[in-house]
Amino acid sequence: MSSDPWSYDGKKVVITGCFSGMGEAAARELVRLGAEVHGVDIKESPVEMASFQKVDLRETAQIDVALGEIGGDIDASFYCAGLPGTFPPLEVMQVNFVNMRHWTYEVAQRMPQGGALAVIASTAGHGWAERRDAIEDLMTTPDAASGFAWCEENLDTVADGYLFSKMCTQYFTMRTAAELIQKGIRINCVNPAPTESPMMKDFEATAPPALINAWAQPIGRRAQPIEMALPLIFLNSDAAGFISGHNLHVDGGWAGSIDSGSLNQNELIQKALEG
Ligand SMILES: NC(=O)c1ccc[n+]([C@@H]2O[C@H](COP(=O)([O-])OP(=O)(O)OC[C@H]3O[C@@H](n4cnc5c(N)ncnc54)[C@H](O)[C@@H]3O)[C@@H](O)[C@H]2O)c1
Repeated sequence: MSSDPWSYDGKKVVITGCFSGMGEAAARELVRLGAEVHGVDIKESPVEMASFQKVDLRETAQIDVALGEIGGDIDASFYCAGLPGTFPPLEVMQVNFVNMRHWTYEVAQRMPQGGALAVIASTAGHGWAERRDAIEDLMTTPDAASGFAWCEENLDTVADGYLFSKMCTQYFTMRTAAELIQKGIRINCVNPAPTESPMMKDFEATAPPALINAWAQPIGRRAQPIEMALPLIFLNSDAAGFISGHNLHVDGGWAGSIDSGSLNQNELIQKALEG
């Protein structure tokens, strides 16, 4: 651990999803903190970084090429890329889970002891326990190709891809911690509530804004991307050195309220639908 546990000065980090939203906000903040930031996205990032690799995260092979180009040891990884449920379900699964898992193992191989990985899941994955058997079945596939084949064979389970991919991400974070910590590497994820990023227009294309806001309670507002970026940066800092396998709810109290029963999601949904 460096003498300043909050410091990113000189740390080499990789970040996907740095074109917009939470990933862009995190990339900007990491540059400001003095990290050597290497960005990956399908669209050229507006953030000035040490390097940028144009990668379609639907394509597993492109990940290997990009990490080869970046080269050397990596101290921290931020997987912030994602697709909403307005995209074809198999593409959503590929970007949000199957290739996120591939990325995680590829990056972990390049990490020294003390390395850390942070992923973005969602409050949408909160119901993972109800789908545990199916999720565990997918987890036992050994690689991206077999993981993708599993998704093709289980389209009913995958459904729109978004909820299931986020359940898988939360579960994967918990499940993989034991394995990675043997190498001194941590993994955690952040579960954002509705956030005003470019992805919001996709959510609003399929659900009325009031219904989306049922997940923006009890705080009563949506988040800004930087409010997700900062907890991600904390999780990958030395300050969080004893935290691993954790799903950090960054939701203004939503998950705690639902779990404790102080909020009833069905009632919130009903109220939203009644206007
Ligand atoms: N916005 C919300 O309300 C919300 C809530 C919960 C979780 N999330 C999750 O947060 C994460 C970040 O999303 P955001 O809200 O910042 O949205 P965003 O659309 O601004 O960011 C998504 C990023 O992923 C990149 N991306 C998409 N497809 C890609 C591909 N095939 N290859 C490479 N890069 C690709 C985009 O270019 C963009 O930079 C996603 O995983 C999303 O599911 C968002």
